[in-house]
Amino acid sequence: MERGEQAMRVIAVATQKGGVGKTSTTVNLAAALTLGGARVLVVDLDPQAQAGTALGVNLAGEDQLARSLGWVLQARLQGMRMPLESIWYDRSDLLADWEDAGTLHLLASEESTMTAAQDLIHKKGYQSTPVLRRMLLELQDHFDYVLIDTPPAVSSLSATALAAGDYVITVCVPEYPALKGAVATRGTVSYVKDRTGGECDPQYLGAVLNRSNPPSKWKAQEVNIRNGMLDAKLAPFLTDIRRDERISDSFAHGVPSVLRFASHPPGKMYGELMWQILGRMEQPPQKWETPDRIDGEGLR
Ligand SMILES: Nc1ncnc2c1ncn2[C@@H]1O[C@H](COP(=O)(O)OP(=O)(O)OP(=O)(O)O)[C@@H](O)[C@H]1O
Ligand SMILES: [Mg+2]
Repeated sequence: MERGEQAMRVIAVATQKGGVGKTSTTVNLAAALTLGGARVLVVDLDPQAQAGTALGVNLAGEDQLARSLGWVLQARLQGMRMPLESIWYDRSDLLADWEDAGTLHLLASEESTMTAAQDLIHKKGYQSTPVLRRMLLELQDHFDYVLIDTPPAVSSLSATALAAGDYVITVCVPEYPALKGAVATRGTVSYVKDRTGGECDPQYLGAVLNRSNPPSKWKAQEVNIRNGMLDAKLAPFLTDIRRDERISDSFAHGVPSVLRFASHPPGKMYGELMWQILGRMEQPPQKWETPDRIDGEGLR
């Protein structure tokens, strides 16, 4: 991963189902990329502002509202130019223990301003959804990768996130409603080009199975979900992310688990996942490796 060798790549992490691990995936992949030397921007497009929390940034108070992404999105939608450089948070201090790390920045969310931006995009209609993509393209010189954390459910904000992406990754957990949400999101990706008049054309890159169990603990539901992901052409990655308390616990510390446990399972799992994601960017979908189907005969 050499700096500045290729164009900036924007990855949206999205699924309609809430609580499956979009935010965890976003901030940990971002951290894994920085440890490989990349300059990474995390964009928090969720009014819940959890990506900010996971990176130790919580906006409150008048001064800070003007530093929120929701505020700047509203300004742009109303024709005002506001440079993103003036509002991003530099979280590269989190990387102080690593000599060769890249940089980590955050465009932070705040509930009231992001909800107002959502309403405005909704009012202006689908043609306004490229607003974030246009803003991010101005940051080409600053970043190698941009990861967008998205809100659950279908909304003008999730449409804006998909429109901003060069790539879309979806997240699933071994539960039936999560599979449905991931499949729906995968389907939505293919409409973006038409709906934005050709301006935005994200490529679907695959599905992360999160909060998975070791094979010895698989029950019928997990096997069905794993096979269901293949059947639904979600292109699951070879590495899934196991259920691990160190991942959830890291939220409270405002530091991604990859940075707190770099040489332990969280760091290793997300590191492997990162290489698979980068690998798929270089290959046509026919060449992507996916896990084998599982024979779940006899499981309950
Ligand atoms: N692999 C994992 N192991 C253990 N806990 C996890 C794992 N992944 C996520 N969690 C926990 O599950 C909860 C939901 O995760 P997260 O907030 O990342 O989901 P989300 O999809 O972003 O949710 P929302 O839809 O509300 O934005 C959090 O408490 C998180 O810490
Ligand atoms: Mg989230």
